[in-house]
Amino acid sequence: MLKTIALVTGGGDAPGLNAVIRAAVKTAVHEYGMRVIGVEDSFEGLLGETRVRELGPAEVRGLLPRGGTILGTRNRGAFVVRGPGGETKPEEVYREAVSNLERLGVDALVAIGGEGTLAIAHEFDRLGFPVVGVPKTIDNDLAATELTFGFMTALDIATEALDRLHTTAESHDRAMVLEVMGRHAGWIALHSGVSGGADLILLPEIPFSMAKVCEKVRQRDACGAQFSIIVAAEGAKEVEGGEHYVEAGDRSSAPRLGGVGHHVAYEIGRLTGKESRCVVLGHLQRGGSPNAFDRMLATNFGSAAVRALRRGQRGVMVALHAANIRTVPLRDAIANLKTVPPESQLVRTARDVGISFAAPDEERHHEHEPREEC
Ligand code: F6P
Repeated sequence: MLKTIALVTGGGDAPGLNAVIRAAVKTAVHEYGMRVIGVEDSFEGLLGETRVRELGPAEVRGLLPRGGTILGTRNRGAFVVRGPGGETKPEEVYREAVSNLERLGVDALVAIGGEGTLAIAHEFDRLGFPVVGVPKTIDNDLAATELTFGFMTALDIATEALDRLHTTAESHDRAMVLEVMGRHAGWIALHSGVSGGADLILLPEIPFSMAKVCEKVRQRDACGAQFSIIVAAEGAKEVEGGEHYVEAGDRSSAPRLGGVGHHVAYEIGRLTGKESRCVVLGHLQRGGSPNAFDRMLATNFGSAAVRALRRGQRGVMVALHAANIRTVPLRDAIANLKTVPPESQLVRTARDVGISFAAPDEERHHEHEPREEC
């Protein structure tokens, strides 16, 4: 019988983390009479003296619309060490955390995070400590769930940015590049590019050619639309080129992507003579209030995670499937990154409405010859 559960948030923050915490606390306390403990600063709060605090209904009041995480988070730390041979998970760190959890009287853990956090959670499960995961990330790159919370809010923010870039690009006859987040997956770029009416979308999954980018920009100029809007995923790469990084990473931290947007804007200017600018949307995509969808999804996930623990489920993640929440094995969630299938329906739709992915072999196949294409 579960008496006390702990909540931990890990990795980059995402809109909706506090909504999960609120829902989990309310469900645990009101529905099942459990005690809830919040672990501060991700799993790091479970080491040494431990940094934890009691969470009751009073502590979660007003949290639904609040961005960030009241528990704090880290996306580097002692639980994963990066070395020349890849990542390792130091056994003694996990044992210390588990023994601290036991000392605190915690029976089970709800780990809210992305791929890295859920991989750490999986280790707790392997050591026999009960854990349930909740999928978070603006990148939407977790396998085994149709959506992660945070993604829809990031998408709204990127789409609004594209709307705003349209008016300034049009006024100045410029090419504007918007670099969005997403790591090695192009979900934010693809979805915002379609919903924000971009002319080009550059994805990690479809390597692009600068010649094709310029061709599209010139084509738009030629047919009277004197501006172009380009969305570049931070992980986008040129054919025969690599990803762009602003930081190489070290023993404790992953390399940081960034720079492809500036590169593309510079190259458009150089190769076409067209005035070009780049905007890096960055952490604006993660900050602030979750939208209505993410509040709902986060609440559903938080509550479902507690119910899963209560049912006796362990080593699983709550996941969205056909508008319902179900549970999937944690190992399935972390097995692969979910990336954009280059032949997916939305990619096809984007092409149908005139968006280019600047693939070297990209040809427009029309059922009849179009008069002009802007
Ligand atoms: O995974 C979420 C994310 O925002 C990525 O899209 C981005 O590459 C990364 O985190 C940035 O992390 P940091 O918080 O270290 O800048």
